[in-house]
Amino acid sequence: VYKPEDDYDYLFKLVLIGDSGVGKSNLLSRFTRNEFNLESKSTIGVEFATKSLNIDGKVIKAQIWDTAGQERTSSVLQYIDGSVQGPSKLLGRPRYRAITSAYYRGAVGALLVYDVTRHTTFENIARWLKELREHTDPNIVVMLIGNKSDLRHLVAVPTEYGKSFSERESLYFMETSALDATNVENAFTEVLSQIH
Ligand code: GTP
Ligand code: MG
Repeated sequence: VYKPEDDYDYLFKLVLIGDSGVGKSNLLSRFTRNEFNLESKSTIGVEFATKSLNIDGKVIKAQIWDTAGQERTSSVLQYIDGSVQGPSKLLGRPRYRAITSAYYRGAVGALLVYDVTRHTTFENIARWLKELREHTDPNIVVMLIGNKSDLRHLVAVPTEYGKSFSERESLYFMETSALDATNVENAFTEVLSQIH
């Protein structure tokens, strides 16, 4: 049976990464289904959604992967640092590695998300970037995203911080709001158009 959504020129895998609660799943649902949920639960396991777009006359099918930021920020990122010692390190490592490499495998674009109202989520960006670099091709297109730009009165990470970090690390950068949809389409489209 012919389905129009099966007809595309390129299939690109994108991954969403960043701390728990920064809004990865809502960015995904806003982009792929134009939906937002104020009371969304933390993602369990790995989810993905697809959306096809026309870019420069080609149909690009984006397959976007999403997982919880929780596990990695709480303990697993510390394995990378070597700051966790003892049995938990030995137990956690193989499982973490298997999931992580599967998650990143074949990704050609990444959205590295922090929450503009929570400074710790921005501090953790460097570690997310390190993990990303360790698991992906050097040519991957990476966009740093400061999400929740609608919460203007609560901003804890000035735009300049995100901007200069992204310049230093050669990343694209945008501030978005999954709630009011600002820049959501722009961010995904920009990543997809920069993939060659
Ligand atoms: P994990 O799955 O745990 O890693 O979290 P996540 O990054 O997927 O976050 P999620 O999309 O579940 O959003 C967390 C909370 O932030 C939810 O209550 C969302 O409604 C809220 N949220 C997400 N994006 C925005 C935004 O742009 N603005 C505002 N004000 N709230 C947002
Ligand atoms: Mg989620």
